[in-house]
Amino acid sequence: MKKTILAANWKMYLDGDASIDFVKKINSNEESFFKSEVILFPSHTCINQVQKNLGTENIKIGMQDCDINTEGAYTGAVSLHSLSDIDFCIVGHSERRLLYNESDEVVKDKLETVTNNNVSAILCIGETKEQKNDGNTFKVIDRQLSILPKDAINGLTIAYEPVWSIGSGELPSNEYIEDVLSYVKNKLKSLYSDEIVEKTNLLYGGSVDKDSINRLLDVKLIDGFLIGSASADFESFKAIAEKLN
Ligand code: PGA
Repeated sequence: MKKTILAANWKMYLDGDASIDFVKKINSNEESFFKSEVILFPSHTCINQVQKNLGTENIKIGMQDCDINTEGAYTGAVSLHSLSDIDFCIVGHSERRLLYNESDEVVKDKLETVTNNNVSAILCIGETKEQKNDGNTFKVIDRQLSILPKDAINGLTIAYEPVWSIGSGELPSNEYIEDVLSYVKNKLKSLYSDEIVEKTNLLYGGSVDKDSINRLLDVKLIDGFLIGSASADFESFKAIAEKLN
């Protein structure tokens, strides 16, 4: 059976010691994560330590973001090449789009950098509260997906994260999520072969925790979850994983 993806976006929540401590707890509680495909997204500076301390190969590691360029004079930027054995990279998270003014064009270039370097991309999409209230959800989703290349991308994952749900405790109904994910699926079908569409995982993100996961698991089109604050606390992350067992 296909495992449910649990992508843990630690944002800037955990420092080096806290990241190592988290990973050690995963090592000693491996059985809690048997039903999930865990991907950890530590801060860039903690990735090496996390990799060194992980006692299992079942857990994948990703970057929360990367620069469009992989080398050169880009002060303060982090290249995909500067970290080894990275499986995934998040692209277009709403915090990058909104707080760091990343346009669709930038997101498109990052997606290209990630996929050209054989790293699997998790492309985040989602509407703001205002866009939702104005009835523009599908228009926004359509625009954000318009950056997808005509040629199939290997290992692409799409995370639908309504901006208004991130960190707010406010969640869309299952029907709402199902409608958006169906829209995404149809868009993918218009671009790619059935085989590629089948392989493109769809995640939901926004206020996922040990309680909300109960009803979110009923959404058939969800292959997994992109989790922020509840993924940075070991006990709450474990509790989410155990709901899948
Ligand atoms: P949250 O964040 O789970 O804290 O709402 C999700 C995300 O930003 O990916």
